[in-house]
Amino acid sequence: MTPLTVNWQTFLDQMDQINALSDATPGQNRLVYTPNWVAAQQALIQFGQSIGMQARVDDYGTVYLDLPGQTNAPAIATGSHMDTVANGGRYDGLYGVLGGLHAIATLQQTHGQPKRPLRLISFSEEEGSRFPATFSGSKHYTGLAETTAITDPSGVNFDDARQTAVQQLLTLPGIRHERPALPASFTELHIEQGPRLVQHQAQIGLVTGIVGQRRFTVTVSGTANHAGTTPMDQRHDALQVAVNLIHELAQIAKTLSPTLTFTVGQFDVSPNTANVIPGQVAFTIDCRHTIDGILDQFEMQLTHLTTNRPDHTLTITVDRWVHDRPVQLAEDLCQLNQKLADQLGLTSMQLASGAGHDSMIMSQFVPTTMLFVPSINGISHAPEERTEFADLQTGIKLLTASLHAQAY
Ligand code: GLV
Ligand code: MN
Ligand code: MN
Ligand code: MN
Repeated sequence: MTPLTVNWQTFLDQMDQINALSDATPGQNRLVYTPNWVAAQQALIQFGQSIGMQARVDDYGTVYLDLPGQTNAPAIATGSHMDTVANGGRYDGLYGVLGGLHAIATLQQTHGQPKRPLRLISFSEEEGSRFPATFSGSKHYTGLAETTAITDPSGVNFDDARQTAVQQLLTLPGIRHERPALPASFTELHIEQGPRLVQHQAQIGLVTGIVGQRRFTVTVSGTANHAGTTPMDQRHDALQVAVNLIHELAQIAKTLSPTLTFTVGQFDVSPNTANVIPGQVAFTIDCRHTIDGILDQFEMQLTHLTTNRPDHTLTITVDRWVHDRPVQLAEDLCQLNQKLADQLGLTSMQLASGAGHDSMIMSQFVPTTMLFVPSINGISHAPEERTEFADLQTGIKLLTASLHAQAY
C-alpha cells in the first residue's frame, strides 16, 4: 500500500464545524432530529458530495454516502452515529463518522476506484438520550425493529420529529430518499470511552464483543403529605422506599458479578419541595454485562424486590424499555485488523466494549468489527471527553488499511 495522505486539517476543521452545532453548554448537545442534528447531517452530506460520494437518506434520517465500486457487489461499510448524549463529548459518534469519511477520501485519492463500493453510514440515533429508544437508526436499517409511539420529555412525538427532520434533509440537492441494501461488512471506529487502553499503553483496541444492556424505569408511588404534621410511623414516603431499593439493588449487582455495571442515572422526585413528603419517585436503571444470563438474574431480583412487598400502601411499577443482548463481533475481521495493526507497528489489545454501539445491531446481520482509540482519563459521555490527536490519526490510518484490505 502506498503512503496515506489524510487531509488532517480538513478533518479537524470538519470536527470543529459539526461540534459547533450544539444546543447547550457545557459539552455537545445534538439530540436526534433537533435543528442542530439536521444541520450536522446536512453538513456531512455536503462533505461527502464534495468528494464525489452519492448521498441517500432513509426514513429515520440515517445518511449513507457511497463511493461507487468497479462492481455492484455489496458495499464495504464504515461509520457511526451523529447524535450525542445531553452535554456529551466531541468524539462519541462523530469521530467514527468523520474518521470514516477521511479513510474513504484517502483511499479514493491514493488508489482510485475500489472494487467494491465503499459506504459511509451516519446513523440517526444511537444514544437513546431524547426518546426512550436506543439504536433506532441501525435497528431501522437492518429491519430489526421499528420504533413505536414514543415521546420526548416535552411531549414531542418520535414520528413527527423524524418526518420533519427527514423532509429537511431531503431539501438538499442530489440526495435520494432510500434505504440501501445491507453491506457486506461494517467497521466502526470509536473512542474507547473507558480507561483500559491508556492503562495498557495500547494505541488501538480490537473489539471482540459488546455487553448486553437493559434499561428500566422504576416508579414508586406513595402519598404526598405535610412534612411537619405527619407522624414518622404514618408516612408513605416514596423517596425513602426508592433509596432503600436502590441500595439493595446495588448490593445485588455486586454479588451477581464484579463486572455487572449498575447505574441510576435519572431520578425524579415529586413534588420535589422541602416541606412535602415525596409522593412519587421515578428513577432509571441501566445495567450491562457480557453474559445475558447475569442480566436475567438481575432482572429476576428486581422483579422479586418490587412485587413482593409487605407495605401495600405504596405501589412500585417497573417498565423495561431497553433489552439488547450481548454480541460477539466477527472474529475474522478482528484477526484482519490485528494483522494490519501489527504491520503498522501499533501496540494493540483485544477487549470487549462496555458501551453500546450500532455495531451490536449491525453484527446480527453482517460481519462487523470495531476499532477503539484511547480516551484520556477514560472519560466519555461528558464535556471532558478527549483523545490525543496522534491517537485519532492512528485510528483513522488503521481504519483506512482495513477498508483497503476489504474493498480493493
Ligand atoms: C451509549 O453510548 C451507551 O453505551 O450508553
Ligand atoms: Mn457512540
Ligand atoms: Mn455514547
Ligand atoms: Mn454509545
